[in-house]
Amino acid sequence: MVEREQAVHRIPEVLRDSGWTVCLVGEEQSGKLAQVTAGLRRRPDGSGSGKLITSGFSYWGLESTVAWAHACNDLYYPVMRESIASFSRRWRGMGELLPEGPLHYVSLGPGTGQKDQALLRSLDGRGRCGCYIPVDVSAEMLRLAQREALQHLHVPVADVLPVQLDFSLPANLDRLSTLIRRTVGEEPVVYSLLGNTLANFDSDTQLLALLGEKLLRPQDRFLLEVASTAGQDEPAARAAAQEYENSPRFREFVTSALMQYTDLQIDLNSITYEGLVEDDRALLIKVVYHNRTGATLELTLPDRSTVPFPDQDTIRLLLSRKYTLSGLEKMLVDARLAKVGETHETGHTAFDRPAFGMALLLLQSGDAPRPGRATGPNPFGD
Ligand SMILES: C[S@@+](CC[C@H](N)C(=O)[O-])C[C@H]1O[C@@H](n2cnc3c(N)ncnc32)[C@H](O)[C@@H]1O
Repeated sequence: MVEREQAVHRIPEVLRDSGWTVCLVGEEQSGKLAQVTAGLRRRPDGSGSGKLITSGFSYWGLESTVAWAHACNDLYYPVMRESIASFSRRWRGMGELLPEGPLHYVSLGPGTGQKDQALLRSLDGRGRCGCYIPVDVSAEMLRLAQREALQHLHVPVADVLPVQLDFSLPANLDRLSTLIRRTVGEEPVVYSLLGNTLANFDSDTQLLALLGEKLLRPQDRFLLEVASTAGQDEPAARAAAQEYENSPRFREFVTSALMQYTDLQIDLNSITYEGLVEDDRALLIKVVYHNRTGATLELTLPDRSTVPFPDQDTIRLLLSRKYTLSGLEKMLVDARLAKVGETHETGHTAFDRPAFGMALLLLQSGDAPRPGRATGPNPFGD
């Protein structure tokens, strides 16, 4: 009898037809639904600190993915648009700090995939492109990102491994780390967390520390992009919130999760964009939906259960930040990460506006030997 080739070995051949993409699903999606529901069942709170949609769920699903792609192109939401447009230039200097030879690239939250395309193109142009592993909570985002990232590049389909997974959970990172090591062996990996994604998490420092601890080996690098602020007072906080408030497309994005997971009749005038000063580390932006109907509403959740949404109660839709330079430095120390390189660009600001910018940092594990001061053989060849 002729031995039949296992189906999984035929996948690279199947993928030659560009209509197909693969995706490794790393966790039970029904469990995720229970997490959204739990966030919407929290106690009433008038200040936006009770019911909430946590970071990953703002992007999960088709509607949110499409709404995010639209927001990234909105002329009135310049933060993301400019960060995508200027990424190639800002990344260029970093490329020099990377090793010779093939590099594998793991993109944590690739979004629309435009930045991944710039990064992969620069590796591809130098013949250094290894595997590309985008990791996202949203399968739809992964498909979009993969298409965009690989356009006009020579990355073989068999070297592309999209993974659907929530990277904020320690157990998921253990599994992801095992998968990556099995795939690349001892060869170096560049991880990225771009587009100020870190700022969307309540416990941002803890998440960064977790990613460093679970993923980074001495030979790996971590590319982090965050929004920054030179001003740290209330007018600066208000200006930061206004950046989001001005964009109709961002409003559609930020309410898309509410549309998907509840039957709430959304009133766009019931959303507030609050800018706060978070100690001396950051400006904090909270996007909050308020029940201002004067009556208790009943929300039907995805499991068909209902939850009361009393008058004046709130649902936090999104959290973001702009970090001060000292706040950023402290976060790196607390997360045990060391800087290898950085670019920091400040946007054009009027005389009466605070200077906001984007910092792109190339990091390594704090336990790894520092380039140039290495005591043993350095895989990066400095
Ligand atoms: C702010 S967007 C950044 C997109 C892209 N990196 C950029 O700079 O244009 C955040 C991305 O991270 C993903 N994401 C957010 N939270 C996540 C989580 N907990 N686990 C996995 N992916 C997540 C979103 O789906 C989205 O693709």
